[in-house]
Amino acid sequence: MDILNAIRQPVAAEMDCYKRYFEQALTHEDDFLGVALAYIRQRRGKMMRPLLVALVAREFGELTEKTYRAAVTVELLHTASLVHDDVVDESDERRGQTSVNGMYGNKMAVLLGDYLLSQSLHQSALTGDVRCVDVIACLGGTLSEGEIAQLANIRNGVANEQAYYDVIRRKTAELFAACGRLGALTQGASQQAIDAATHFGLQVGMCFQIRDDIFDYFPAAHIGKPTGNDMAEGKLTLPALHALNVNDDPHQHDVARRIQQGEATTNEIYAFVEWVKAQGGIEYARQVMENFRTKALRSLDAFTNDDIRRALTLYMDYVIGRDM
Ligand code: IPE
Ligand code: IPE
Ligand code: MG
Ligand code: MG
Repeated sequence: MDILNAIRQPVAAEMDCYKRYFEQALTHEDDFLGVALAYIRQRRGKMMRPLLVALVAREFGELTEKTYRAAVTVELLHTASLVHDDVVDESDERRGQTSVNGMYGNKMAVLLGDYLLSQSLHQSALTGDVRCVDVIACLGGTLSEGEIAQLANIRNGVANEQAYYDVIRRKTAELFAACGRLGALTQGASQQAIDAATHFGLQVGMCFQIRDDIFDYFPAAHIGKPTGNDMAEGKLTLPALHALNVNDDPHQHDVARRIQQGEATTNEIYAFVEWVKAQGGIEYARQVMENFRTKALRSLDAFTNDDIRRALTLYMDYVIGRDM
């Protein structure tokens, strides 16, 4: 947690202010809805996306209400996507507590996710800037495209690195790119600065999902959600794709196909995971993250505030090395 505090340091006061805006947006007087929102609110998560908005925005001066609303917008869209994602992934734990679908059932989780999404759009309108509304409206579509492509790939037996990068860009990285974009845009930054911040966010987001996918190959420890779920849901992620690329063992290729078809046994998946590790799948995924890191840090050349550059570099390192 210490490294997170170090990253937050240049915007510590701003993050406190952000939290007040966020709590306000996630409150409702109706009995059931109010209770369900309080349930979601009580576990905040790491707040990585609003933190990125705030850090980028701070490069261009003091934060205003417009930036806070944009930060709330992205976190609400993220929260909505998690609530829906746990329905899709049939996952029963999120942020160290029972997932919303586990607590209230799938029907309620779908509706609560819809409600969060509408709140996200409402908050984007409160920025008073139609460009912010456009960013978030398009992003909702992109995230859905990513999750749909992921499901379609499983159904069609598609398993290659290019398809994987395309899915994680849309389902995860574009949201981080939007954080960079909104942080700069809400502060009236130049087009060049907006592009640099967007590019930084995109590379960070690619690493964010690759790191998340690596979690799934190890025991859950303290990450607050189950691991081992991806293959159980038919998902073959970067370490596995690499192993399949470098080794043509017909048995493991057959297991991989059956994982996608939902037909592999638990023991087969277990042995497959060990095989993937033995092929250097985890190291390969870490190397890919390093390549994204190099590209990300290049776009920080456009930033002039040393504290912010340092914090954004630490942010990138945290995303790659984090253990939660
Ligand atoms: C989880 O995101 C979803 C992914 C994109 C992998 P986070 O790990 O940021 O989730 P919280 O908000 O901290 O719970
Ligand atoms: C990211 O994928 C989810 C979203 C973009 C909403 P995952 O399915 O890997 O996320 P977790 O592991 O459930 O948090
Ligand atoms: Mg999931
Ligand atoms: Mg995951």
